[in-house]
Parts: sequence; C-alpha cells; structure tokens
Amino acid sequence: MSVYSYLKSFQSEETQKKYYPLKVSILKVFYFLVAPFRFFLTLHNLYKIKKRIHSKEVIKLNLGCGTDYKEGWINIDNNSDYNISKLDLNWNLSRGLPFPANSVDFIFNEHFLEHLSVEQGKVFLKSCLKVLKPGGVIRIAMPDLAKTVASYYDEHWKENPSLKKFNLTFIKTRAEKINISFRWWGHQWLYDYEELERRIREVDSSAIITKCNNGKSDYSELCGLETRDESILIVEVTKG
Ligand SMILES: C[S@@+](CC[C@H](N)C(=O)[O-])C[C@H]1O[C@@H](n2cnc3c(N)ncnc32)[C@H](O)[C@@H]1O
Repeated sequence: MSVYSYLKSFQSEETQKKYYPLKVSILKVFYFLVAPFRFFLTLHNLYKIKKRIHSKEVIKLNLGCGTDYKEGWINIDNNSDYNISKLDLNWNLSRGLPFPANSVDFIFNEHFLEHLSVEQGKVFLKSCLKVLKPGGVIRIAMPDLAKTVASYYDEHWKENPSLKKFNLTFIKTRAEKINISFRWWGHQWLYDYEELERRIREVDSSAIITKCNNGKSDYSELCGLETRDESILIVEVTKG
C-alpha cells in the first residue's frame, strides 16, 4: 500500500470528494513545474543514446520495459510514476521511436503491444522496423488471445494458478474473468498469432515472422528475456 492510499484510507468519501478538485490542481501545478526538467532530461537521455548508436555497440531496445530494466539494453517506457530516474528514456512509444533508420540491432517487448490501440500498434511496429538495421530482429512476447478464450471454456478455469498470482481469486464467473482479461491493466487490443501476423504484414509485407518458445531463440541476445510464464504468444520479426 502506498503512503498516499494509506492516508486516503483515513478520509471519508465526502472529504475525499471535497478535496478532489484541490488535489487535481496541485498535481497540475506540480506537472507544470517539473515539465522543463522532464524536457531537458529527455534531451539529455536522447543525446546519450545517440552517442551509443554512433559507437560500435550492439544496440538493443527494451520497449515498454516497466520495471524490467535489462543490463546492456536501452530501457524505454513512459511510466514516470516509479522509475523516471532508472529509465534510459521516458518516451510515449505510440508515437514511434526517436532514432535514425537502420541504427538498431535488436528490439524486445513483453506484455506491451496489447496496451496500444491497433493504430498506435501499427505506428509502433512500423517505427521499430524502420529503426532496425537490415537483418535486425524484434521479439514480441505477449498473452495469447487463443488461450484466454480457451480458458473461458475450460471447466477447471478456477484452478488456474495465474488467478492466485495476480490476486484474482475474487472472480466468480468465467464471464467476469474474460472481461477482465480484455479490459484491465490498460489492455487495448489482444492478439492471437493470426492477428499479430496480419498487423505486422500490414506495416511490412517483406518481414520474416518466426514463432518462438518462451526463453528460446536462435539469437543469443534474445535468449532468456521473458520474465513471465504468461508470455505465450512470442514471435521474432526479422527486417528483410
Ligand atoms: C504490463 S506492463 C509490462 C512491463 C514489462 N515489459 C513486463 O513484462 O513486466 C506494460 C508497460 O507498457 C508501458 N506502456 C504502455 N503504453 C505505453 C506507451 N504508449 N509508451 C511507452 N510505454 C507504454 C507501461 O507504462 C507499462 O510499464
């Protein structure tokens, strides 16, 4: 429990409602005051990354990293709540990547693409394929819509260990479970293999798409990257 929610738990609903506009105003002033700092931090981080790109280093991007900071990778996310100082770059990836074409060797993202709308996802994928060097690879790891739907029909759905893992044991019906899968955590669009392949082909018909298993890859740089057993749908996309 955060300090904020602990303090909040002492307040009545009425007090919370009364002070809500004040809280919003304070937050707005705060974001206004830190905006120049964030702007210069972004410029500084972009400069540092540009220097790495111009060195002989193998450039690897970990996108929508959350708190999964990978050593030797450029870790990017737009969540400044808890990790602004640890990220290599705070960036809204639905607008694409701010790097030159043909400058990146590997891209990894886990449980990220389903947080973008279809259009944002296509902008993102197009931008990844643009910044990759020819022969460069994007590895995409995500939940599989086919499994989500299958679990709706599974009569033992309540025994699924992920319910306990994600504190979802309160779920009473399979309808509630499938709705949560679609709507919670900022999910915008869930994929099965057919849909993922279609969206990748829409942005680059010449890309080579390979299905992979969790943790396994022909590229040593892409082995053992997944952090979740729920990463079931995994593909590597090689730029032609
Ligand atoms: C479910 S978390 C996955 C984090 C990490 N990859 C993992 O597997 O633990 C999704 C992450 O995507 C990030 N994200 C969502 N939309 C984003 C956007 N438009 N630009 C950058 N990051 C975004 C969120 O901030 C969050 O950290």
